[in-house]
Amino acid sequence: MTLVPERQAWRPEAIVGDRVVLRRHRGENLKAFMRWYSDPEVARLTRYQIEPLTTDEIQRVFHSRIMGADFLAMAIYIRDTDRLIGTCAFSQLDGDNGSALYHITIGEHDAWGHGYGSEATALMIAHAFTQLTLHRVALTVFEFNARAIRAYEKCGFKVEGRARDAIFRDGRFWAEIHMSILAEEWEARQKPG
Ligand SMILES: CC(C)(COP(=O)(O)OP(=O)(O)OC[C@H]1O[C@@H](n2cnc3c(N)ncnc32)[C@H](O)[C@@H]1OP(=O)(O)O)[C@@H](O)C(=O)NCCC(=O)NCCS
Repeated sequence: MTLVPERQAWRPEAIVGDRVVLRRHRGENLKAFMRWYSDPEVARLTRYQIEPLTTDEIQRVFHSRIMGADFLAMAIYIRDTDRLIGTCAFSQLDGDNGSALYHITIGEHDAWGHGYGSEATALMIAHAFTQLTLHRVALTVFEFNARAIRAYEKCGFKVEGRARDAIFRDGRFWAEIHMSILAEEWEARQKPG
């Protein structure tokens, strides 16, 4: 009897913020995924490989991960207009150790730099530390992705390590930055002052 509410708390229909709403993905979002993940600039910022994902790979990722049970993925909508702009998710949800890995892609270029990514991330972290009762949320980001690093820092993520020269891009090597936020750090940020 309690399974349904518990499951809903774990994977809610929607998480509502001031400017964005996160909702469970629907099958029709595949069309947007196709556009986002075949974009060379999105690939540059998110993939080790230079080439974007192929159509087959995008379909596979969408059906197995985004719509699958092991991945907590939510679509990002601008609240005012209900426009779908991206996706965010937890993978490697590890109940034994209270940890997860965070991912986000705002696929629509014109939606970059408006605060939507930071807000979506803040909502997901709040969900992680309240509903999922996680202890740690981690992520990786390429050193050259200054916008992403700044957005994560604004949400309280701290740099905890660097995989030196892990990626060759734009003619040189860059580090892969490892960042994380712990539950107590997030809680401390919720206190006024
Ligand atoms: C990374 C991403 C989620 C960030 O979301 P966003 O909505 O674009 O970012 P926000 O507007 O919330 O915050 C960006 C911050 O970086 C700053 N910024 C933007 N460009 C910057 C740059 N080139 N250098 C340094 N800071 C930059 C902005 O000023 C803002 O900080 P501020 O609020 O202190 O002014 C989004 O841009 C995205 O999905 N990009 C493509 C895919 C990607 O990179 N995913 C992450 C892979 S790890």
